[in-house]
Amino acid sequence: MRAANGLVADVLAELQGIVGPGVTTRELDTLAEARVRSAGAIPAFKGYHGYPATLCTSVNDAVVHGIPSDTPLKDGDLVSIDLGVVLDGYYGDSAVTVGVGSISGSASTLLRVTREALARSIACARIGGRVSDLGHAVQQHVEANGFSVVREFVGHGIGTNLHEEPQIPNYGEPGHGPRLRAGMVLAIEPMVNMGRAAVRVLEDGWTAVTEDGSLSAHFEHTIAVQADGPVVLSRPNGEGGAEVASPGIVARSGAEG
Ligand code: MF3
Ligand code: CO
Repeated sequence: MRAANGLVADVLAELQGIVGPGVTTRELDTLAEARVRSAGAIPAFKGYHGYPATLCTSVNDAVVHGIPSDTPLKDGDLVSIDLGVVLDGYYGDSAVTVGVGSISGSASTLLRVTREALARSIACARIGGRVSDLGHAVQQHVEANGFSVVREFVGHGIGTNLHEEPQIPNYGEPGHGPRLRAGMVLAIEPMVNMGRAAVRVLEDGWTAVTEDGSLSAHFEHTIAVQADGPVVLSRPNGEGGAEVASPGIVARSGAEG
């Protein structure tokens, strides 16, 4: 799980360095697929229920599951880049949202609050806690900052399948659902809208967009529940790979979330 998720993080870090005005999300997708395959891994999303690409690239009001296209990114856009891989039978899954060129103050606040919500949720992934503590932490932080949490999509267990039990909603009361145990590996992925929470799916059958057209952000990490605390597996190998998450590590303002 460290190897698969370290690969995901390495590729996401490279893609973030390339994002800019004029770049197309198809170019990002082509590069991502080449990097994944040359590492001996397989893109996990491509072919999953017929999904056509290696990445999900969700621009501006797109929340998740945007399909890479030939439309160039432009200054001020937000793009969520979500990557899943299978390496030696184990899945990696992580996502970041990045600004293209210079973004508005409110867009940058949306990114920060979503990243912080993920960090706070990860910090709850401790032995003895419950699954609903994770979503409660997201909802509390997001709503305290005047944004809204998407209800239709959830985080998930991950291992030898992309999506395993339990589902991890990004909202709810704490103290419910399965107990967190050592060895559980979870993909936590808050989706946060600047406006209202409602989303709809476009005619392509995949792209989820905000109903009110407001901007949306999405960050995802795959983490392991361990005796010492949560370990973020989707950290770049180039940065030393997985570490036990301390508040300083998970909350730091690094672009990888
Ligand atoms: N990170 C997302 C998820 O866990 C992306 C899935 S895209 C799909 O659901 F194409 F695989 F569905
Ligand atoms: Co996921």
